[in-house]
Amino acid sequence: MRDGATALASGQSETTIEVALPGRSYAIVIGEGLVASTGRRIASALPGARCAVVSDRNVAALYLAPVKASLDQHGLFLGEAVVNPGEASKSFAVLAPLCESLLELGVERGDCIVALGGGVIGDLAGFAASILRRGVRVVQVPTTLLAQVDSAIGGKTGIDTRQGKNLIGTFHQPSLVLADTGVLSTLAPREFRAGYAEVVKYGLLGDAAFFAWLEQNWAEVFSGEGGARRHAVEIGAHAKAKIVEQDEREESGTRALLNLGHTFGHALEAYAGYSDRLLHGEAIAIGMRLAFPFSAELGLCPEGDAARVERHLAAVGLPTKIAAIPGTKPMPEELLRLMAQDKKVKGGKLAFVLVHGIGAAFVERDVPLPRLTEFLAKECGRR
Ligand SMILES: NC(=O)c1ccc[n+]([C@@H]2O[C@H](COP(=O)([O-])OP(=O)(O)OC[C@H]3O[C@@H](n4cnc5c(N)ncnc54)[C@H](O)[C@@H]3O)[C@@H](O)[C@H]2O)c1
Repeated sequence: MRDGATALASGQSETTIEVALPGRSYAIVIGEGLVASTGRRIASALPGARCAVVSDRNVAALYLAPVKASLDQHGLFLGEAVVNPGEASKSFAVLAPLCESLLELGVERGDCIVALGGGVIGDLAGFAASILRRGVRVVQVPTTLLAQVDSAIGGKTGIDTRQGKNLIGTFHQPSLVLADTGVLSTLAPREFRAGYAEVVKYGLLGDAAFFAWLEQNWAEVFSGEGGARRHAVEIGAHAKAKIVEQDEREESGTRALLNLGHTFGHALEAYAGYSDRLLHGEAIAIGMRLAFPFSAELGLCPEGDAARVERHLAAVGLPTKIAAIPGTKPMPEELLRLMAQDKKVKGGKLAFVLVHGIGAAFVERDVPLPRLTEFLAKECGRR
């Protein structure tokens, strides 16, 4: 991976990152105030496509009006479908009426769905677009930090079932991604912080210089002062785009690196019941932190790197320990069982993203289970 801190020139009013894929390349445009030009940008990227906007109630209250006005200005607005905010909307129960509403609005093969919201809306609306009339195009307008650097890019769509998260879905690349960094100012601080965990992930998995930059500049990323926030979004989106270009369908292993912290994290999320008790990004923060000392115990990673990761995550206020989850604490056996249910199990073996150090993640397909059990027992007891 390129050294993210120097990969992009900053200072322009907007930045465009190309995701180059055979027959389905698209642009990620990043800048302040982009939502007001949604209509012009879609008219130019997808000539002739009319738009149905899918959003959640929170985001619609803040940003549907400017998006609608901009689409109307270009005669592109078909209507909107607004669902309840929250992970529960990624379900068959919400998907079915959503698809019917979109058909009622008159969405045709050549039209597009505009997914206006965070990762929940991006995954749900992207999935609906991929099955509606056997596939219509989708434009992602991500409104959370997590969605701008991660979920809106790369074409993974889907919903949850009681068997687990994201087990039903498709690969359906967007035709355009509009990441308006201005909308992040209305995000709840806890949601921003959770999304920041995914930003840190890019440093930890392949870009040590970016991690060092975050250690120095995180306060400006959070405050939104200067260009630091935008720079962090650009580097994150760029890193995701390059990984997707190399391994669109998670076949060669490169895309699997994005799961750094996720095997632990998904188990913790499942344990906490996918609730406000532990947000996705918070679970990933704990999971990434765990991946470092676990790698160190296996003799793969310097102890000093593990300490540095914990220091940074704690400095920004992210949880780093299993004990930080409010309420009853999980038993190690329970976490192991939940880990085994994750999609990352192949032929009975647990694939894990481990690290040789900060910026040097790799996929280990044969993690020694006794060592993992011993490690989890220690971590579950750690305060
Ligand atoms: N497809 C992928 O590649 C991928 C990658 C990572 C995560 N995900 C998925 O993303 C989802 C999590 O996404 P998320 O963290 O964005 O959560 P989210 O979509 O639930 O948004 C978080 C909350 O913030 C509100 N919100 C969104 N934008 C806002 C804004 N600008 N101002 C004020 N409030 C705003 C939402 O209404 C919601 O209440 C999970 O379902 C996860 O599985 C998908």
